[in-house]
Amino acid sequence: MGRLAWVLAATALAVGAAALAQGLQERTARVKRRLAKEAQAHAGLRGSPGTLPTDNSLCLLCHANFRSEELVTVHLAQGVTCAVCHGLSFEHMNDETSRTKPDLLYGRAQVSSFCTRCHGRHAQPEKVQAFLIQWKGKTRPNGRLILQQATCTDCHGLHALPDTPVLTGR
Ligand code: HEC
Ligand code: HEC
Ligand code: HEC
Ligand code: HEC
Repeated sequence: MGRLAWVLAATALAVGAAALAQGLQERTARVKRRLAKEAQAHAGLRGSPGTLPTDNSLCLLCHANFRSEELVTVHLAQGVTCAVCHGLSFEHMNDETSRTKPDLLYGRAQVSSFCTRCHGRHAQPEKVQAFLIQWKGKTRPNGRLILQQATCTDCHGLHALPDTPVLTGR
């Protein structure tokens, strides 16, 4: 490839990456706005602030194992807190019997479509393919068995409840 072709290719890549990053930021802002509205709708509940918290401290009071978990930390750095993905979950936090679920939960079949509300395609699909080949049929350190139709959280993070109960005394 000639020098000019290299420069053009490098520029196209940089522009592509910038466009991807911008798309992610825009989508993230949109999803956050929608969830903030939902949080507002819960404002009537006893003591609810009605707005999304900007940190994870309330959730971490009970879910301490998530403090340094990868999905939690990469997202917190961008203001995507637990509440952005799981809703304000005010009733969940205040149910002394632990029977009320958080506002938003995702079954295995919903994970991918949820993550892609903000994320686009992988920047380097060949790396993902190589990863898949390396792990197929094996169990990852996060406890997930990797199969051909792996979903986002099989390969990313260790986003799971601990083996021991969240609240031992409750
Ligand atoms: C007062 C303690 C407490 C607080 C605060 C709390 N949780 Fe929980 N959470 C629990 C308990 C207990 C469970 C059930 C754990 C189990 O089944 O082992 C749970 C379960 C969950 C689950 C899994 C539910 C399911 O059925 O799969 C999610 C998701 C969750 N919490 C998210 C959150 C989020 C997000 C926050 C903050 C907005 C939060 N929790 C705050 C105690 C708490
Ligand atoms: C509300 C929007 C939003 C949702 C939903 C979301 N993300 Fe993200 N994610 C972001 C933002 C913003 C970043 C930070 C990107 C950056 O730092 O450039 C990020 C970062 C990441 C990173 C780190 C990227 C890197 O370059 O190291 C991974 C991995 C990731 N997300 C996976 C997921 C997975 C898996 C899901 C679904 C469980 C998910 N995301 C859902 C917005 C979102
Ligand atoms: C088969 C495993 C696998 C699956 C499934 C998977 N990823 Fe990835 N992901 C990877 C690997 C490997 C990388 C590249 C890491 C690197 O650059 O070294 C990556 C990178 C990323 C990044 C960083 C930015 C980028 O594009 O490289 C984000 C964000 C991300 N994945 C989100 C997701 C989301 C969202 C899903 C589900 C829709 C998903 N991943 C599904 C393995 C996977
Ligand atoms: C980027 C979005 C995102 C963020 C941020 C996030 N979660 Fe989740 N969470 C999910 C998704 C998606 C699932 C379903 C994962 C799966 O089944 O693979 C999930 C599952 C869970 C579960 C159930 C795990 C199990 O084993 O059943 C708990 C508990 C939980 N999250 C708690 C939290 C807490 C606490 C925080 C903040 C400290 C948090 N999450 C932040 C998206 C997120």
